[in-house]
Parts: sequence; C-alpha cells; structure tokens
Amino acid sequence: MANPDTSITSRPRMHYDHATIAFHWLTALLVVGLFASAQIWNQLERGTWLRKDLQSIHISFGILLAVTIVLRIVWRIANRGDLPPATSGLQEIAAKLVHMVLYILLCLQVVLGFLFRWAQGEPLTFFGLFSIPHFFTVDPAMRSTFGEMHNLVAWTIIVLAGLHAVAALMHHYVLKDRVLVRMRPAARR
Ligand code: HEM
Ligand code: HEM
Repeated sequence: MANPDTSITSRPRMHYDHATIAFHWLTALLVVGLFASAQIWNQLERGTWLRKDLQSIHISFGILLAVTIVLRIVWRIANRGDLPPATSGLQEIAAKLVHMVLYILLCLQVVLGFLFRWAQGEPLTFFGLFSIPHFFTVDPAMRSTFGEMHNLVAWTIIVLAGLHAVAALMHHYVLKDRVLVRMRPAARR
C-alpha cells in the first residue's frame, strides 16, 4: 500500500503515519476512559442516575474501542514493516512482545465485554443512537464468570499499558532517543 509519509527518494520514515498515531492515542484515551468510568461507578450507590450514565458511556466507548481495534489491526497489517524498529536487541524483543500482548488483551477484552453484556441480557447501545443485536444467546449463569474475567483483563491492560507508558517516557527523558517522538502527533514534534 502506498505510504503518504514515504518520500520520493524512499528514505526510511522518521515517525509513524498519521493514522497509526491517531489510532494509538484514541485507543489510549478510550482505555483510560473505560477503566476510569468503571472505577467511578463502582463507588456509587446502585440505582443512581450517574452510575447508569457511566455504564452507558462505558458501553458506547467499548463499541468505539471495538471498531478502533479492528481498523487499527487492519491498518497495521497493511503497513507492516514501513517503520524500522526504534530499538534493537533485547529492548526490541521486549517492546514487540508488550505491543503484541496489548493487542491480544484489547481484543480479548472487547469480546469479554460483549459476552458480559449479552449474559446480562441487556442491549449494547451506542450513545442512544442504535443498538447492536445479540448475535447469539449467552447463558445468564455465565454473567459473573465473564464479569470477573473482564475485570481481571482490565487490570492487566492498565498495569501493562502503564509500564509501557513509563518505558516510553524513560526513552524520551532518560535515554533521550526518538521512540516517543515517533508516536507524537505532527503538530507536537
Ligand atoms: C480496555 C477496555 C475496557 C476496560 C479497561 C474495561 C473495564 C471494565 C471494568 C473495570 C468493569 C467493572 C467490572 C466489575 O466491577 O466487576 C467493566 C464492566 C463492564 N464492561 Fe468493560 N472494559 C473495557 C471494555 C469493554 C467493552 C469493549 C465492552 C463492550 C462493549 C465492555 C462492557 C462492559 C460491561 C457490559 C460491564 C458491566 C456493566 C454493568 O455492571 O452493568 N467493556 N469494564
Ligand atoms: C492504554 C494505553 C495504551 C495502549 C493500549 C497502548 C498500546 C500501544 C501499542 C499496541 C503499540 C504498538 C504500536 C504498533 O507498532 O502497532 C504502542 C506503541 C507506542 N506507544 Fe502506546 N499505548 C498506550 C499508552 C501509551 C502512552 C501513555 C504512551 C506515552 C507516554 C505511549 C507511547 C507509545 C510509543 C512511543 C509507541 C511506539 C513504540 C515503538 O515505536 O517501538 N503509549 N502502544
């Protein structure tokens, strides 16, 4: 696929393309919003409006995350190998491993979120605009199992993404290399 950021002289690119950067930061925002919304509603009394609103926002963000992840992976596969690795040796292996685990956990979390909702017997509504139908019936007895797994995966993603963010900041402020700059929006470089 033609790459808009590759120059005519085919010099290697210095940063991720605009779509990858947009997908990355949208994913990060959604994940933080999804996690924070659940932590806040868990502090509120059952039946309150704010609790219900936060749950609705969570479902809508979840649907948005599902679409973002699918588009992001398709884009990633289509543009594979365009950008040389920012590091080498063990660091490169560790970074690739963390990125792959994050992709897998995000996909798993989306699937668990949908199954959890269907086990609740509730609709998946996107900001009140439309609802995603139940593709198949999920046994309501599985509700707490899916809930526990969804919660466990949520914490794993947050811890791993937190370590990943700390590593990116270390690259920038301690090692002073271009790892973080490659993922920054053009306007901030
Ligand atoms: C990385 C993304 C996500 C994170 C970090 C996350 C996190 C959480 C957490 C921490 C809870 C509370 C669990 C508990 O208290 O036992 C929760 C509940 C829930 N999540 Fe997610 N979630 C994510 C994505 C999704 C997605 C994609 C969907 C599906 C659209 C979804 C649907 C739900 C549902 C239905 C609940 C239960 C709501 C209720 O109690 O009524 N989540 N989520
Ligand atoms: C929930 C939050 C986050 C998630 C789920 C996430 C996920 C990912 C994934 C999957 C990649 C691999 C991209 C690819 O090559 O396809 C990536 C790359 C990257 N992320 Fe994140 N990220 C998050 C937050 C952050 C934050 C807060 C920072 C900065 C402080 C950051 C900095 C970076 C950088 C610099 C790269 C490129 C690394 C490289 O070129 O080797 N990420 N992220």
